[in-house]
Amino acid sequence: MFRNDLLATKRILITGGGTGLGRAMAQRFLELGAKVYICGRREDVLKKTADELGEGGKNFVRAIACDVRNLQAVEAMIDAIWKDAPLDILVNNAAGNFIAPTESLSPRAFDSVMGIVLMGTLHCTMACGRKWLKGGQKGTVLSISATYAPVGSAYVVPSAMSKAGVEALMRSLAIEWGNRGIRMNAIAPGPIPTQGAFSRLLPRAEFEKFVLEHNPLHRFGTAEELANLAAFLVSDGAGYINGEVVRMDGGEFLQGAGEFTTLGRLLTNEDWEAMKPRKKS
Ligand code: HXC
Ligand code: NAP
Repeated sequence: MFRNDLLATKRILITGGGTGLGRAMAQRFLELGAKVYICGRREDVLKKTADELGEGGKNFVRAIACDVRNLQAVEAMIDAIWKDAPLDILVNNAAGNFIAPTESLSPRAFDSVMGIVLMGTLHCTMACGRKWLKGGQKGTVLSISATYAPVGSAYVVPSAMSKAGVEALMRSLAIEWGNRGIRMNAIAPGPIPTQGAFSRLLPRAEFEKFVLEHNPLHRFGTAEELANLAAFLVSDGAGYINGEVVRMDGGEFLQGAGEFTTLGRLLTNEDWEAMKPRKKS
């Protein structure tokens, strides 16, 4: 799909890069020649991923344990990376989420998810952005959102509030920092099987069936599809895309939006035939 050296000059930090979609993006960016840093809370998970993706020193992958909720820890991580050389790209991918009736949530439950998704994204974006602006360097930020950010969703309210905030942050800074060479975009993926997401959000097999039935393509997305879209958006070839949220969900969002989109499942061929206008005699 891409030239093998598409990202050869790029240094990229992926938050939550030890697992799931973050790991898939790390793998794809490495294949395309980038130097990649991954961070997360669990050092053992990060180290295993870095060892595997590093392929015995063939690829440049560095793992840094960092909780993105902690501003001081984020600033220390970014300082440490800049000591090697400035980053070119930040991917805000780290997230926390679970399904629960909203009235049952404690203040700490809200804090926990909003701390990771909204504040973690803000901490990383500000730490990189300030360095890029001060050094007069170009930079690109890609944030991983969710399709419910613009409309909200029952049962994942802390995540929905946070992803909406992340998209507002991206759109705002795309304008404010665009004239100084910093591009901001987001991807809103539909359901893509990862252990982290599906164990928390679709814990029973019948939930998966339900989601598949409501997708026009009747399948989940793949981590490879997400990683390819991310590679395109962070590459220089996408240099005029700024402040955009690209939805990648097989049409699931639109399926839910159209008044008559479910008719295909409700009406039979005989029903359609019966509704044809009768020939006037
Ligand atoms: C209600 C819950 C809860 C649950 C935790 N809490 N899980 N409340 N229902 N299922 C509450 C706890 O009781 C506690 O409040 C507070 O939240 C913090 O919980 P901790 O376990 O101490 O938090 P922590 O160890 O920091 O873990 C954060 C986490 C966890 C978000 C709760 O799930 C996590 O680490 N997630 C990271 C990975 C992840 O979520 N990946 C999925 C992303 S998928 P009290 O008051 O009791 O102390 C995604 C996709 C969206 O975003 C779109 C899909 C289509
Ligand atoms: P995942 O594997 O659980 O990824 C989440 C990552 O975030 C983990 O590596 C986790 O590592 C890290 N993380 C969590 N809290 C952190 C913190 N405080 N500091 C640093 N890192 C932290 O789930 P995923 O499915 O790949 O999700 C990746 C992104 O895609 C998320 O933004 C999610 O909202 C988005 N998304 C996913 C789907 C889907 O269907 N999979 C759909 C829409 C959007 P540690 O636990 O080690 O910290």
